[in-house]
Formats: sequence, structure tokens, C-alpha cells
Amino acid sequence: MTDCQADGEGANSPMELYEKLNAQGEKVRSLKTAKAEKAEIDAAVQLLLKLKVDYKQMTGNDYKAGCPPSENVVMSDNGPAADGADDEDTVDPWNVATSNAKGVDYDKLIVRFGSSKIDQELVDRIEKFSGQRPHRFLRRGIFFSHRDMHQVLDAYEKSKSFYLYTGRGPSSEAMHVGHLIPFIFTKWLQDVFDIPLVIQLTDDEKYLWKDLTLEECRRFAVENAKDIIACGFDVNKTFIFSDLDYMGASPEFYRNVVKIQKHVTFNQVKGIFGFTDSDCIGKISFPAIQAAPSFSNSFPQIFGGKKDIQCLIPCAIDQDPYFRMTRDVAPRIGYPKPALLHSTFFPALQGAQTKMSASDANSSIFLTDTPKQIKNKVNKHAFSGGKDTVEEHRKYGGNADVDVSFMYLTFFLEDDEQLEKIKQDYTSGALLTGELKKILIETLQPMIAQHQERRKQVTDEMVQQFMTPRPLNFNF
Ligand code: TRP
Repeated sequence: MTDCQADGEGANSPMELYEKLNAQGEKVRSLKTAKAEKAEIDAAVQLLLKLKVDYKQMTGNDYKAGCPPSENVVMSDNGPAADGADDEDTVDPWNVATSNAKGVDYDKLIVRFGSSKIDQELVDRIEKFSGQRPHRFLRRGIFFSHRDMHQVLDAYEKSKSFYLYTGRGPSSEAMHVGHLIPFIFTKWLQDVFDIPLVIQLTDDEKYLWKDLTLEECRRFAVENAKDIIACGFDVNKTFIFSDLDYMGASPEFYRNVVKIQKHVTFNQVKGIFGFTDSDCIGKISFPAIQAAPSFSNSFPQIFGGKKDIQCLIPCAIDQDPYFRMTRDVAPRIGYPKPALLHSTFFPALQGAQTKMSASDANSSIFLTDTPKQIKNKVNKHAFSGGKDTVEEHRKYGGNADVDVSFMYLTFFLEDDEQLEKIKQDYTSGALLTGELKKILIETLQPMIAQHQERRKQVTDEMVQQFMTPRPLNFNF
């Protein structure tokens, strides 16, 4: 397989595609071992990613080396990954993949998911009600889609407040910068609207989906809580909980789980999540557990039993299937539908075709990385939109739209004018890839160092405090 003919379109069966994937994986490994040209490795990686997308589309399952497709794969007609045309991006809670180097087509996703775009009018309204300059994630379309945010603001205008709910699946100790995006934004929302926040750590979910023990999942939840706390949440307004602990400790929470379970059929979750008959029943009922925190009476210690306090969920768009289900159930069990703010994905260093993965050390910048590791990773692995030689780059300029270093700067560089100037200079060729990477490195290094400093100051007692069910500083 040497060129672009070797993609999934040529494969007629899942087995054939599976074999192509094996061969391509092998090719990538040998190129890397042989320290081949970066461009050659990148091209091979991209083909591999594309084949994976094709495979998922054809079989409804993820490609896994060593797990050939079973004889009886049916072309899933109800999973979110297979609900459209061939060129469709894959976006569900477990997979994000696209064949486009610029990343997922988010406008198309809004149409497909039936959500609404966060337009300038909404950003202006948020500015008006919060009295603060909109966060850079709003100014730059990183939070790009919503459900019912106008209603939340209408009510807020009439002094009806709301609460925030977000979460994290603790699948390992190591969190990367992409994991911080919803938390950075949620912290801003908590500050500007002065409202309570609940954070769900789905240690149960990770136990069900991954090859981990209950103890490991519980421990990762506590470790991740430290990173979350280090984002600066106010202990008087924030409740962090592990499902494994809180489910058993709160009858009210469990009652809501059961109510939700009674109102969603197996058929519905199959349609929404692509579950199959061979998935364990824990997975099948899990969505009810992620839905429950959307209802205020799941937290009587905070909301005193009130069941009608509006919930707003900031999350990455891949979590939307859970909340489509939640919003469908809510009126049928007498609760308000949660509103949502959706973010785009944080791209892997290798390119925007997929999001970062906590299991591939070189795809991400971890919160534990040293300044040197950050520098090396960016220099070695950040996919570049620059030209191959300085001469060509000066002449034709770089492509910021596919350049991962530039994308990362849109997430983390606060100054709009500086960002715009970088884009212009890169596009014109005045700024070289090495120089762009240097700006990113110098942005990330202090940011990560400060995070590490704040995390060090998070004691076990603080974690304990955040995770204790208690009233928060708020009267509804
Ligand atoms: N399922 C999410 C994950 O794996 C964790 C999560 C639970 C979450 N509740 C949420 C994320 C609410 C966003 C909003 O990461």
C-alpha cells in the first residue's frame, strides 16, 4: 500500500478492511522505528485514521488490532456513527473521527444533532447578563452549539437562577489539557453568574467500559478531582461526587435514576448509543445515571428538595446523546429539560481528525508534563500546516486551519489581537512553523506549571470537603 488508493473505499468486506488496517498499523510502526521523514509518517497516520473511520462506518464497531470483525456484523442502522452519508464525521461518546484535516464539520453536526448555533446575538446576551466580557471560548466559537440557552437567560432576567452540571469519566490518573476545556469554561460561568455547580465523576462508567477494577476507578476519581479543584472552583458553591459513592448515599439520586430507567426502552438506548445485545446490562442502564444530575432534586442537600431548578450543562458535543435522552425523558417525569452548551473537541497533536487520547502519551500534553516534555512534544508531534522548506513557506505561507499549534493557541492564548496577528503572519509566510511552535510552547509551559502548582496545594481534606454532600452557599 503506497498511495491514496489504499483506503477503505477499495475494501468490500469488514475483513478486508480489517486486514488493511493491520497492514497500515504495521507500516506506521515501522516508519516510526525507522525514523522516517515526518511528512511520510504523518501521511501514513492519516491514512490509518481514515481507515479506522471507514471501519467504524462499515461495522459500527471500533477497529481493534487482534479483534477481527465477527462473521455476523450487521451494518448498524441505528448507531450514531452510521446514521448518514459516507463522508459523515463520527461523533459519539466513545469515538470522534473525521477525514478532514480541519477537524469535524461542526455546522453539519448542529444540523444532524438538531441543536442551535451559538451566534453573536447569544454571545452578546451572555455578555449583557453576566456583565463580563465573553470568555475567549465564546468569542472564538469553541463553545459553538447550545440547547435552550435563550430560555435560561430569559428566566435569569426574571431573577430565576439556575445551576451548572458537568462531569468527567475518570479512566486514568493522567489528565491532558483537552480535559480542562469544559472545566475552565464552567469555572468562568460559575464566577460570572454566581451559581452552584455539581460535578459528576463517572467512576462506575469507566468500570463498565474499561478493563479496570472498581478500586482503580474510585482512585482515579479522587486523583482527577484534584486536577478539577486546581481549576479554581469555589468550595462553597461546588459539589463533586463519585457515582460509586453518591449513588448509595443519596436515596433521592437513586430514585431519579430509577424513574429515568422506567421511561427509556432498550430500543431507545440502542438507537441513541448503538448498544448491542452483547453489551453488559450495566452499560445499557448507565445513561440514566449520567442523566440524573440534570434534575435538581437529585441533590436535596443543595436544593432542599426543589425539583424545578433549571440545569445548564457545559460539555463537549460528544456527550450530547446522553442529554438528548435526558431532555426526552424530563417532561415525562415532571422535570424541566436541562439546557446545554457544547464545545468543539480539543485536537490531538497529530491533527484534528480525532480528539486527544489519554492512552497515547504522544497525542496529548498532559497536566503532569515537564517544560521539556512540552517542548519536545510540540516540536516533534504537533501537526504543522507549514510548508516543507523555509523558502516555500516564505513564498506560499502556511495553513493555519490545519495547523495544530495554531489551533491550540486559539484555545489558550487570551489576546485576540495577538492571535489574529499570528494567523496573518503564518498565512503570509512571515512566521515560520518553528516560530509558531515556540509561541505555543511558551504559552503552554507557564500554564501547565501554574496548574501543577495549584494542584500541589490541593490536600486530601480539600478533596474530602468538595466531595461531602452538604448545603452550598446559595438560596434558591
Ligand atoms: N461521560 C463523561 C465522560 O466520560 C463524564 C460525564 C458525566 C459528563 N456527566 C457529565 C461530561 C456531564 C459532561 C457533562 O467523560
